Amino acid sequence: MHLYGTQGINEEGHLTIGGVDAVELANTYGTPQFVYDLALFRERARGFIDTFKKGNVKAQVAYASKAFSSIAIYQVAAQEGLSVDVVSGGELYTALQAGFPSGKIHFHGNNKSIEELHQAFDAKIGCIVIDNFYEIEKLKEIAAQKKQKMDVLIRVTPGVEAHTHDFITTGQTDSKFGFDLSNGQADEAFQLLYKEEYLQFKGMHCHIGSQIFDTEAFSLAAKKVVDKMAEWHQTTGFQATVLNLGGGFGIRYTEEDAPLAPAVYVDDMVQAVKKEVQALGIALPEIWIEPGRSLVGDAGTTLYTVGSNKVVPDIRNYIAIDGGMSDNIRPALYDAKYEGALANKMTQNADTIYTVAGKLCESGDKIIEDISLPKAEAGDILATFCTGAYGYSMASNYNRIGRPAVVFVEDGQHQLVVKRESLEDLVKLDLPLTLGKG
Ligand code: LLP
Repeated sequence: MHLYGTQGINEEGHLTIGGVDAVELANTYGTPQFVYDLALFRERARGFIDTFKKGNVKAQVAYASKAFSSIAIYQVAAQEGLSVDVVSGGELYTALQAGFPSGKIHFHGNNKSIEELHQAFDAKIGCIVIDNFYEIEKLKEIAAQKKQKMDVLIRVTPGVEAHTHDFITTGQTDSKFGFDLSNGQADEAFQLLYKEEYLQFKGMHCHIGSQIFDTEAFSLAAKKVVDKMAEWHQTTGFQATVLNLGGGFGIRYTEEDAPLAPAVYVDDMVQAVKKEVQALGIALPEIWIEPGRSLVGDAGTTLYTVGSNKVVPDIRNYIAIDGGMSDNIRPALYDAKYEGALANKMTQNADTIYTVAGKLCESGDKIIEDISLPKAEAGDILATFCTGAYGYSMASNYNRIGRPAVVFVEDGQHQLVVKRESLEDLVKLDLPLTLGKG
């Protein structure tokens, strides 16, 4: 069994995370529950940040908070010196509520609303990553109206397709995101921006996909974007100062995944950029990245309580848990695979094969197929590993199931950071009928 970060097994044969007994966590805060190992989050953050420092490269490591957004995670990100990337007014609001330094917030999105753009200006965030021509137009209007400066990057699609799941590839030419680098759109955006007074054009951003396991695609994308920077420098004398290479660094969900350490991704990226700028005779830009999954993914574990079971003779043993696709949509949506264990039976023989079903009214609501576990009984605590990214953040209220509690653990301490949604919470936006006579 693969354990992550500070996970261990105590004398009672229970899973521990951050020095805290997972069964105790389940008893204290209930299930389903997301548990984040803060030490592992910090280790990952430092892995990225320190590698840039060692390479003597000016950088920003922006946590892509779509992976998991909450007030407390922005506060940890701030402690670690990370910047953050937000993609909505909601994420921006949450970061601001957390007291996150607004100058280190980057705003993404292919259809930011006018209100969201105003919100970004009013909060004086660090930069807006412009996605399309409509946004350029609106930003010019808003900046002129407010007489306020704003740093901007443009998002480009470099036409590099990373080897990953189709659904989560965003770097290819046929993408809803960004300006195409090769068909003249990026050049046109540059022309519209680089002399602007209020919009301070800093450079380019690209994101080539997710769950990427080698560095080649990043290097290729970096080369293409740097080439474009050099071209603009040659024709206009303009020197871009920021190159943002996005996120997408892969993590280990199962033994089939072989991720690289953060330092390896960063080192290779830096080498590729340095090589290209030297060859082309332009100044080294700041390098920014946006890891989401690789900061929070394996730091997160979900705890469920096992309930019913169903044996389909000669075919399958099902056990059902008290959550499912409402807290982890990824198996149903992406065919994502997870590993797990019974947190209260960590030292028992895993000699029975189960399919772990969720409790939602959909046949596809299965979290893990064919997992070996000790004999499972109602009341056992099932831990599924590596659920920290795009689990809670993609959670829904399907079937009016409340979203889970989120707990942080570190050095033997634990703290509730997001409350479990209650029945009252589930109806708090509903209004009683007033139309009609009934
Ligand atoms: N930057 C940009 C512009 C992005 O679009 C994304 C992810 C990231 C950074 C962070 O990527 P990461 O390091 O987390 O791979 N819901 C899907 C993932 C969608 C990713 C969307 N963009 C999943 O559950 O796998």
